[in-house]
Amino acid sequence: EQIEKGGYDHFMLKEIYEQPSVIKDTYRGRLHANEGIVQMAGVEDNIEKFLNANRILIVACGTSWHAGLVAEYIFEEFTRIPVEVEYASEFRYRNPIINKNDVVIAISQSGETADTMAAIKLAKENGAFVFGVCNVVGSSISRESHAGAYTHAGPEIGVASTKAFTTQITVLTMIALRLGKAKGTLSNTDFHTFLQELEIIPEKVAEALETNERAKEIAAAFKDAPNCLYLGRGYNFPVALEGALKLKEISYIHAEGYPAAEMKHGPIALIDEQMPVIIIAPKQGHYDKIVSNIQEIKSRSGKIIAVVTKGDTQVRELADYVIEIPETSDALSPLITTIPLQLLSYHIAVMRGCNVDQPRNLAKSVTVE
Ligand code: AGP
Repeated sequence: EQIEKGGYDHFMLKEIYEQPSVIKDTYRGRLHANEGIVQMAGVEDNIEKFLNANRILIVACGTSWHAGLVAEYIFEEFTRIPVEVEYASEFRYRNPIINKNDVVIAISQSGETADTMAAIKLAKENGAFVFGVCNVVGSSISRESHAGAYTHAGPEIGVASTKAFTTQITVLTMIALRLGKAKGTLSNTDFHTFLQELEIIPEKVAEALETNERAKEIAAAFKDAPNCLYLGRGYNFPVALEGALKLKEISYIHAEGYPAAEMKHGPIALIDEQMPVIIIAPKQGHYDKIVSNIQEIKSRSGKIIAVVTKGDTQVRELADYVIEIPETSDALSPLITTIPLQLLSYHIAVMRGCNVDQPRNLAKSVTVE
């Protein structure tokens, strides 16, 4: 097992560090930025289905559902196709409306999640086209789908999903780029810019991994906190949810993710000097809005840990701790902002003496409903 961990203390840490290379594996042979090509066989073979879709429905659970939420923002922005993201476990039991012009995208690392499997069976029975985004080759969901694209993240052993999340987002971004180009909803310039940017994302992820020591310092300061809030806006709202899930599952600290602007509708009542608030505040996106959210938290004495773009000065003045990440466009930022949050959860869990790779009560694939 030590050999399999490749010198890392835990599989989770190894998998966090694999992200630059597995993201590359995921786009290898599919993305050629210089030639302006992004293609995946499963998409090309069914391009008309995607282009004629009235709606894209995404079904998934847990971290894969968070990747689906990121995809909702990206698809709607790039393709203008309406997207709905559903918990597979709710979808399957609520007599959902499914039409034959719907494209259903099922996202699953293991490809064995019972609820996601049941959701795609229901979608197929109702005539929808089902596209699977799975990591495990030959898994049940990949076989049950009409077509699909693998994430090529390699085996993910840690129960807490890390590299599966970023590679899922990579695949979904490539699909959105391909469709946006074909539909003309994404300008030529934007299309080429995003292709170039996606191609160099692994380098930026590697740079984001350099926040490890900083994450460790912050972990030491907050390891005994009983609660944590994670806030983000736009593309980084799902990253806040994912950050909170990661902390919950491996450190057993109660954590909640919220869209930052929802604070004033309730959660702000929780803020006092004991409450760590992790805020994802990169320069792009709704920066000014998030700065005012940070001011609201500061005036209530919350402890602010902010993930900011390198060189940021405004948030630095307000925050108790900052973690600097490289600059990237708003749409691709989840691939970067999620990295320090994974590291932070990891170090907190290690410092609390938790079983990082096999947290209590959890299984790697949930094959029961
Ligand atoms: C993530 O860290 C979890 N352990 C869990 O939420 C997981 O993402 C969920 O069970 C879905 O699994 P899947 O991607 O294999 O379908």
